[in-house]
Amino acid sequence: MRVFEVNGGKRLNGCLQVQGAKNSALPILAATLLIRDKSIIHNCPMLSDVDAAIKILVMLGCVCVRDEETVIVDASYAANHIVSKELMSEMRSSVVFLGAIVSRMGKAVISSPGGCELGPRPIDLHISSLKKMGVKIDEEDGYLKCSAPEGIKGTEISLAFPSVGATENIMITASTAKGTTVINNAAKEPEISDLADFLNASGARISGAGSNRIIIEGVPSLHSCEHRVIPDRIVAATYLSAAALTNGKVKLEQCGAANMISILRFFKEIGCHIKSNGSCIELTGSDSYKNTKKIITEVYPGFPTDAGPLVVPLFCRLSGKQQIKETIFKNRFRYVDQLNKFGCEISLKDNTATVNGINNFKCANANCTDLRGGAALVLAALAAEGVSTISDIYHIERGYCKLDRNLKLLGADIKESEI
Ligand code: UD1
Repeated sequence: MRVFEVNGGKRLNGCLQVQGAKNSALPILAATLLIRDKSIIHNCPMLSDVDAAIKILVMLGCVCVRDEETVIVDASYAANHIVSKELMSEMRSSVVFLGAIVSRMGKAVISSPGGCELGPRPIDLHISSLKKMGVKIDEEDGYLKCSAPEGIKGTEISLAFPSVGATENIMITASTAKGTTVINNAAKEPEISDLADFLNASGARISGAGSNRIIIEGVPSLHSCEHRVIPDRIVAATYLSAAALTNGKVKLEQCGAANMISILRFFKEIGCHIKSNGSCIELTGSDSYKNTKKIITEVYPGFPTDAGPLVVPLFCRLSGKQQIKETIFKNRFRYVDQLNKFGCEISLKDNTATVNGINNFKCANANCTDLRGGAALVLAALAAEGVSTISDIYHIERGYCKLDRNLKLLGADIKESEI
């Protein structure tokens, strides 16, 4: 079994470049299927989820070439419309391929995504929206069977919740649909704007991305383009948290602060010193932090659900009680039992975690329960004197590219080993 061994208690100090955003790269890769030509995607992070997306494209008949962080997808001859259950289950957000496949092939067969480690992942908003655009969808034997016998038509869709994935699926599907699609109550996350930038660079006509009303005027076809994925704001938050937790100092290059306002506000409020300009963020930690008001996770521009687990270890360094309420995913706090092994005092009630300040973290052996929860364990291990072991690190590898190498560059004593 592969594990991270962390000899904690070292102050982190240094400079890093932040990887491209997984949550942008995945829908962008799905969208390349619409282009009967080559798409060149730069800053595409080297992650198992991205590998799974590339495998799905290859299964659909695309030719994909990867050179480090650049992926070239040639979808000229893609002709398959069926994705196997095994492949779909390799990637949590594989449903984002649904709109792309049915738009390009006129039909699609994919397995229905089940639950994931964060709880049930319903796709009702994806399905009802695509149905409104003329896609017929039947669920049979765990598969979604889709067809668009009369083509896909633009329409007005009002989402009951501003789902990131559903907004992306509609944008991709609407890009080459007949007529105009309007999404009301659309998700506003920066990754939505990045997808719109990619599609517009390929000839789509999308306006309003980043606001709650997105308008997509369908065009007959898209063309080849080259795009650079935005930096990953959640990975950036992880390195900032690592520096804050160890009273260190980290400078993140090519990572703008504009998409991270709520996260940076939190770090400032507890007493970190933050300097930022257009393209870099520098955080200087402190040896004492002050409490802040209860954090409530919200859709963008609120505090991101994915960053919750990354700040909870820091709560342990505050004096008194600090709370975080999760409003997006039911099972977000599965990592808490594991984090408590480090001496943390975290209790849960009604999707709110209450954290008591502690003097010191202690080293521990803990298992990752999910991607961001796994990163939280690494953070606690960095702060704990002595050697900790973190297992089931495949969860972490879904979202972090070379986490151990990057932390080592900052002065951490961390290595991957086989036990
Ligand atoms: C994306 C991100 C994920 C992040 C989340 C919220 C990707 C690959 N993943 O996930 O990292 O945590 O946004 O910022 O981009 N829902 C429904 N019905 C639907 C769709 C969603 O009820 O059809 C619910 C979900 O169960 C969840 C909430 O809406 O409770 C948010 O989901 P959504 O915004 O769709 O998140 P994802 O796109 O899955």
